[in-house]
Amino acid sequence: MTLLVTGGAGFIGSNFVLDWLAASDEPVVNLDALTYAGNLANLASLQGDARHVFVKGDICDRALLDGLMATHRPRALVHFAAESHVDRSIHGPGEFMRTNVTGTFTLLEATRAHWMSLDASAKAAFRFHHVSTDEVYGSLAPEAPAFTETHAYEPNSPYSASKAASDHLVRAWHHTYGLPVLTTNCSNNYGPYHFPEKLIPLMIVNALAGKPLPIYGDGMQVRDWLYVRDHCSAIRAVLAGGRPGEVYNVGGWNEKPNRDIVHTLCALLDELRPSPQGPYTRLITHVTDRPGHDRRYAIDARKIERELGWRPAETFESGIRKTVQWYLDNAAWVADVQSGAYRDWVQKQYGG
Ligand code: NAD
Ligand code: TYD
Repeated sequence: MTLLVTGGAGFIGSNFVLDWLAASDEPVVNLDALTYAGNLANLASLQGDARHVFVKGDICDRALLDGLMATHRPRALVHFAAESHVDRSIHGPGEFMRTNVTGTFTLLEATRAHWMSLDASAKAAFRFHHVSTDEVYGSLAPEAPAFTETHAYEPNSPYSASKAASDHLVRAWHHTYGLPVLTTNCSNNYGPYHFPEKLIPLMIVNALAGKPLPIYGDGMQVRDWLYVRDHCSAIRAVLAGGRPGEVYNVGGWNEKPNRDIVHTLCALLDELRPSPQGPYTRLITHVTDRPGHDRRYAIDARKIERELGWRPAETFESGIRKTVQWYLDNAAWVADVQSGAYRDWVQKQYGG
């Protein structure tokens, strides 16, 4: 029994691999191209652990995928690998189409060939779990009901459009070929190992460095936030008990405007690492809004609770406190990821 994970050196994937191997002895083959977002330091605690096999490679490489399937004969795939940052997709959508669309297509085809080679009982037990986002559903009006699994697809950014395309491919491979797929569409994650280009880690590391806290537009855009380990437990629940061909929305029942998130982070840092210069809110600046910025996302996570008994374990208050503490305790990890290409990105996106 082996699990093949793609993108397991990124933020959510590495948390998933660490959680998986903390709870199970089933080996994980971790395929990751180690783009700017992939970081083997996230998996340092697994060094020398024979249950974790890391393979540096691209999900668009069909020969590599075929070789991995033949060697490891996985009983399931969990597909995290993606370009995942909306702002980067606005600057350069090409890589999003390549990895998120062509990469998912290539992985589906390699998986289908492997699945076809299995005997009847292994074929029935096999799963392809596609990890996706609530952003495929588009933007909600302030009082509109939260996204259910049957909400129309209305992606607005190159990132969400590429993820929507990948969701459609996964659906079609089930419908046409019978591949036993599962899809989860999750809200915004936060927690350890989050690359500091996304809102929460960016605000923490900027505040600690005495740099501006750049809120896009009026800061009243609403996101649902979920602690990353809760996303991992949701994936485990769906992988174990989800019905093939079904979609499960995953969320934290925790909608908040960006401004509130930034104020909460400032208050926690004032408590845990007070600055001699005064409250961290002094660093908040409002900058030009993101083009096409979605106003609100909200997840209705009743289906996964009803069918699989999953609910998040963390409240926002407990999860965000753990997260801030993790960044305070892991200054070396932050310094490492901020070296090199990270600086070019900050210059391109925020200037100066
Ligand atoms: P991430 O950007 O932190 O990590 C992505 C990983 O994929 C990196 O390790 C990168 O090296 C790898 N990768 C990229 N291109 C690859 C390729 N061509 N071949 C092999 N590996 C490649 O992303 P994340 O935040 O951990 O997100 C993981 C998945 O979860 C994505 O599919 C994303 O769409 C989805 N998701 C993310 C969130 C969120 O809040 N971060 C929410 C819902 C869904
Ligand atoms: P982000 O973490 O990029 O996730 P997503 O765009 O996938 O939801 O951004 C979360 C929210 O925070 C989003 O509304 C954009 C906003 N934001 C800022 O206001 N300032 C920033 O510097 C960043 C990175 C994001």
